Amino acid sequence: MKNKYLQVDPIKLRTYIDDIGYKESLILKELREETSNLGDLAIMQIGAAQGVLIEMLCSVGNFKNCIEIGVFTGYSSICIAEGMSNDGKLYALDTSIEYTEIAKKYWKKANLDKKIELIINDANSTLDKFLDDGLTDTFDFVFIDADKKNYLDYYEKSLKLLRTGGLILIDNTIWKGKVIDKDDNTSSTKSIRSLNEFVASDDRVKHSLIAIYDGMTLCMKKSKK
Ligand SMILES: C[S@@+](CC[C@H](N)C(=O)[O-])C[C@H]1O[C@@H](n2cnc3c(N)ncnc32)[C@H](O)[C@@H]1O
Repeated sequence: MKNKYLQVDPIKLRTYIDDIGYKESLILKELREETSNLGDLAIMQIGAAQGVLIEMLCSVGNFKNCIEIGVFTGYSSICIAEGMSNDGKLYALDTSIEYTEIAKKYWKKANLDKKIELIINDANSTLDKFLDDGLTDTFDFVFIDADKKNYLDYYEKSLKLLRTGGLILIDNTIWKGKVIDKDDNTSSTKSIRSLNEFVASDDRVKHSLIAIYDGMTLCMKKSKK
């Protein structure tokens, strides 16, 4: 029987994708370079192929009302805002003034600063405020890429805020393969593993776990029956 599974060294595959798998804009390249000055923390930034995919999703959906949970130095927010409709608005949630100062500089350079509202606060509190303000069922897109221990809360609150047909995209759902290592029971691995299991059994969404970089799960909110 033919084997249709990938038989490739993941590092060679990543190099190949980085060679020909996407085109990164000059501004995003510059941002990636500046972020690399933060040392090991730079690993938090999404991959360039993810960025292009996110931009295309937001563009195809002509999204107007979006949330990003976890801004860091602003790479994914640029991709979301670039793809969104011209009159769209992205609420960018983070707790760090230091990292988001870099983000603000690049949003301006990319001429996207007017489309993005930065909210510096714990993301759970901001999402609770959106719910209290009656914004249930109003958002088109939520990108979840912050502290892993709160992923399930972010998912639940995002699903309430999302309109039918809207998308939630969750980063790091493969977690360097740790989710399938039964001996890895660190709190972040357990959080992501339980979120993955929760999503898999959640009838309110259609979902697909995409094996890109560290894994991203795309969920679409289904209509209520
Ligand atoms: C993985 S990074 C985000 C990377 C970003 N999406 C990008 O493309 O570069 C995670 C971010 O989540 C933020 N964060 C951590 N805990 C948070 C919380 N409770 N509320 C809001 N943001 C939080 C961190 O400050 C950090 O900037």
